[in-house]
Amino acid sequence: MNHTEIITGASAGIGKALAKEFAGHHFNLLLVARSEDKLKNLCTELSESFGITARYFPLDLLADDAAEKVLGFVKDNGIDAAYLINNAGMGDAGLFEKSDLQKDENIIRLNVLTLMKMNRLFIPYLRENGGGTIVNIASTLAFAPTADEAVYAASKAFVLSFSQALFEETKKSNVSVLTVCPGVTDTDFFKNAGFALGQFKAATPESFVAFAYRSIVKKKALSIHRFSNKLTALFCRLATRKTVRKVFAAACKTES
Ligand SMILES: NC(=O)c1ccc[n+]([C@@H]2O[C@H](COP(=O)([O-])OP(=O)(O)OC[C@H]3O[C@@H](n4cnc5c(N)ncnc54)[C@H](OP(=O)(O)O)[C@@H]3O)[C@@H](O)[C@H]2O)c1
Repeated sequence: MNHTEIITGASAGIGKALAKEFAGHHFNLLLVARSEDKLKNLCTELSESFGITARYFPLDLLADDAAEKVLGFVKDNGIDAAYLINNAGMGDAGLFEKSDLQKDENIIRLNVLTLMKMNRLFIPYLRENGGGTIVNIASTLAFAPTADEAVYAASKAFVLSFSQALFEETKKSNVSVLTVCPGVTDTDFFKNAGFALGQFKAATPESFVAFAYRSIVKKKALSIHRFSNKLTALFCRLATRKTVRKVFAAACKTES
């Protein structure tokens, strides 16, 4: 029997591409996001194209009990989940002192709190269910404090640090916690975050998810998409904090 992969933020962008990639490898799917119609249409398309079982659970992951609800849905429906990709995320751009505080709170709630709770609830669930893999989607910005994206970059630094710690805690067990970092990828993320892609040359979501699939199958602790992003991460380790701050501030400057 094929196992089920849970993907959050699967109605658009990278999450939607992940759903297509894993359906192509005959995984059954449970897709989570707020946009019910998009999830429903995607499930129909993927189950017809690949002969898999694709289900969806429309849910706002900003809710306090979102992680409990996802686990409850899995248990209530007898879903044999072995993979969880915590992909849903949101960003913002501009000077922090002028930011929309509610949006900042939502970034921390979605990117940090809900992700943390999903890991806390699903590690024991997967362990009892015969083992599995959790993948937390971070970002190249996880490696550097980034002016004009201060809250978002800090949220992804949490994802990176937290997920790497969990990899060590779980590595001798039947559950793995992996981190995959996209660089700039061509989705609606930037429009939703309120800034233009500008100088950046974006990867396609399809190239990112093909890379992510290979990394997940190999159970790599940390995978960074594209050679240029790997170099960026290396630069962040070797350069002084002052240099890293300045380079990222210049590269990610917004108009505000
Ligand atoms: N694109 C990039 O360049 C890039 C680079 C580095 C890292 N990343 C990371 O990659 C992940 C995916 O980004 P993306 O580019 O695919 O973004 P996107 O195109 O904006 O898609 C975001 C997804 O998250 C879902 N989502 C947002 N808020 C939600 C909420 N409150 N509850 C449930 N679902 C929610 C959205 O669905 P609904 O609106 O239907 O809820 C959508 O499916 C994020 O974690 C992001 O930080 C992206």
